[in-house]
Amino acid sequence: MRRDVVAAAAIALIVVQMAGCGGAVPRVSSGMVASARERWPDASEASLGRGRDLYTRRCNTCHALPLPGEHPAEEWPAIVRSMGKRSKLDSAAQDDVARFLMVARQP
Ligand code: HEC
Repeated sequence: MRRDVVAAAAIALIVVQMAGCGGAVPRVSSGMVASARERWPDASEASLGRGRDLYTRRCNTCHALPLPGEHPAEEWPAIVRSMGKRSKLDSAAQDDVARFLMVARQP
């Protein structure tokens, strides 16, 4: 009985994590790092990872998480600049988020 409760809680937790932590958001791949570095030589796996992390935690507090493919790549920087102010992200953090969104939409 007790084990069933624990198992049910574990499954519920996994479902919540998939829904809330960007289940449909791709993880940073080596292909993404390569295409980011072509455009921004200072981009790295770490900077894209920071961008992904900030995006999945901060861009879903007022509305559902917008997915990378919802906007053309060239629109993301301006969107992230205006939304980044509302999210209290500094300009370096905004760059990380925008770069992640731009490469994540075309993995
Ligand atoms: C403080 C609340 C808040 C946060 C945090 C926030 N947004 Fe928004 N967002 C809004 C509101 C309100 C709108 C509706 C349009 C408007 O008011 O500009 C919106 C609209 C949008 C749209 C649709 C705009 C369009 O032109 O179709 C996108 C995309 C978006 N947000 C992305 C983001 C991203 C990316 C982040 C994280 C960096 C973010 N938002 C964080 C409040 C927020």
